[in-house]
Amino acid sequence: MLVSAKDMLEKAREGKYAVGQFNINNLEWTKSVLLTAEELKSPVILGVSEGAGKYMTGFKTVAAMVRAMMEELNITVPVALHLDHGTYDGCYKCIKAGFSSIMFDGSHYPIEENIEKTKELVKVAHAMGLSLEAEVGSIGGEEDGVVGLGECADPRECKAIADLGIDFLAAGIGNIHGKYPENWPGLRFDVLEQVKAAVGDMPLVLHGGTGIPEDMIKKAISLGVAKINVNTECQLSFAAATREYIEAGKDLKGKGFDPRKLLAPGADAIRATVKEKMELFGSVGKA
Ligand code: G3H
Ligand code: ZN
Repeated sequence: MLVSAKDMLEKAREGKYAVGQFNINNLEWTKSVLLTAEELKSPVILGVSEGAGKYMTGFKTVAAMVRAMMEELNITVPVALHLDHGTYDGCYKCIKAGFSSIMFDGSHYPIEENIEKTKELVKVAHAMGLSLEAEVGSIGGEEDGVVGLGECADPRECKAIADLGIDFLAAGIGNIHGKYPENWPGLRFDVLEQVKAAVGDMPLVLHGGTGIPEDMIKKAISLGVAKINVNTECQLSFAAATREYIEAGKDLKGKGFDPRKLLAPGADAIRATVKEKMELFGSVGKA
């Protein structure tokens, strides 16, 4: 059954581990993430960006696919189906489509407007049993058309948003979507500490999980991060494994061009990446 992400993230914060949000793009992606979570007995969040939702023909299709797949694969671990960096309209579409969690990313609005829209969406989401993530500050770089300047979150704004009754908060702390540049100075733990002091026990979300060094991940978890989003790293693993298969000419031998064979190495590579992250985040055996 799909669940809201509230309980799993509160447990994670208390237990000092993080639940991974892995963004999905198609059937193979979804199956790889679900099977790995089940194998490792880990809770998991399936992230769907608006772009990926559109690619998969729409949020209704995504929700129906995920529900049917969970049933047919006998998935028993807690799974949340979560809109990633949602717009105001996107949030309503996902609530209607049967998602179990949404992120309203109002970080590009003036804070008053972010507060106003978040407040409304919290009410609607909670009335329907969904959890809600909000964002303050911004995540640098670009993901699926969502561009951020990477400004760090203002702790007072974080408190104002947290006080609206949201379930978990994404705060910009120098994190970036996509690959980190070589001269990246690292996460701003001073900002993370101030945000934590301002919002108390609220689970915090670390976006841009691709390529953050292990020691920083562990420190972030110790400071209240309970959800870590990973997208690009699965895409890189999938692309590398698919390239290797094609460059080795395996698609030209026997029935190697069959999409079920052609996509298998990429799907296995996603499973390996998800496993590595769940082990690093400490969520293995926590379902
Ligand atoms: O919202 C999704 C994430 O923040 C993923 O970031 O692509 O850098 O792993 P990433
Ligand atoms: Zn993100």
